[in-house]
Amino acid sequence: MRAEEASPKAVGGSDGTGGLAIVGSGVVGTATGAGFQAKGYRVVLCDTSLDRVALLRRQGFWSIDGASLANLHPDAYFISVPTPTVEGRVDLSFVEAAAQAVGRAMIDHPGHPLVVVRSTVPPGTTEDLVGPAVGFASGREPGRGFGLCMNPEFLRAATAHDDFLHPRIIVIGALDEGSERALTEIYSPWADVPLVSLSLRTAEAMKYVANLFNATKISFFNEMHRILLVSGCDPDAAFAAATRGAEGLWNPSYGARGGAAYGGICLPKDTRGFLGFARDLGMEELMPLLRATIRVNEEMEAFQSSDGRFRAMREGASSDANGGRSQPNDEELDRDDAVRGA
Ligand SMILES: NC(=O)c1ccc[n+]([C@@H]2O[C@H](COP(=O)([O-])OP(=O)(O)OC[C@H]3O[C@@H](n4cnc5c(N)ncnc54)[C@H](O)[C@@H]3O)[C@@H](O)[C@H]2O)c1
Repeated sequence: MRAEEASPKAVGGSDGTGGLAIVGSGVVGTATGAGFQAKGYRVVLCDTSLDRVALLRRQGFWSIDGASLANLHPDAYFISVPTPTVEGRVDLSFVEAAAQAVGRAMIDHPGHPLVVVRSTVPPGTTEDLVGPAVGFASGREPGRGFGLCMNPEFLRAATAHDDFLHPRIIVIGALDEGSERALTEIYSPWADVPLVSLSLRTAEAMKYVANLFNATKISFFNEMHRILLVSGCDPDAAFAAATRGAEGLWNPSYGARGGAAYGGICLPKDTRGFLGFARDLGMEELMPLLRATIRVNEEMEAFQSSDGRFRAMREGASSDANGGRSQPNDEELDRDDAVRGA
């Protein structure tokens, strides 16, 4: 699939066959396209905004408007269109329109192209919306007529190009083995980057897990910042030391298992104790995250000790991460709690 190792058709011929098409060429799309291009792929950047197309052309990219997509037969279409939140719901209209456009463009495609969702979308979107929309417009069946993947992006807007070229991990959610193989092959120039294979839904969900955790982490430090300032402390110095010394901040497996209250000795006592300290300063109301943390944990404790619902959920759950093996039993969870709360 790459210039140095593949046939000209696979890389992308000047007749528009092969290569990669980016559908939605904003921050993520352009970083994706430029990154693949840097690795030797022939890339076309497609966008519905004519201003954007003109700008990308001035920057030296091969860029086309939406209507011209039908003239090309790339090996893969990467959908990276906006997914804004409108009135509290994720607006998937851009994703649906892009999927339909890709489907229409595929009608005369001589091969078995791959459709890859890069936009951040709620679990189920790729399987229930994108696959059927592409299928309906192209007259092909997902899996049989085209491959389907979800490949979330973690780049930061300010360092988009560098982040795409040097990712910490590459996550591939796939409909089937063939789709996974095809996208793995496209990412073969990143052989030294860990590749995480998930189901389509779990790949979609993990992007929200990552973003929501980041949002919570930032909010936590903001909440602590206020009370440390009022208490005559140096927040930056405390944070620098905590991020170097506290296991929970650097150990990827600590606290990230889910499904159990934090328990143990220190965390229940210290969370409540610090909230009492804030109360004495008249700042309890300014610690919504800490109050929520305590509440979430208390609710989890109550949930765990309630009837059989928790056990049934755990027994019914299977995860990509543990390869479908059963969830830990109570004894393991209790031991884990003790470690967490140490
Ligand atoms: N910006 C980031 O840092 C970042 C990081 C990771 C993931 N994401 C996610 O990636 C997705 C894209 O984000 P972005 O920041 O690149 O958006 P963006 O607004 O910068 O770019 C989206 C582009 O898609 C174009 N577009 C809209 N509909 C189209 C269609 N049907 N066909 C072709 N082009 C179309 C728009 O004209 C625009 O140029 C979103 O789901 C976002 O949440 C963004």
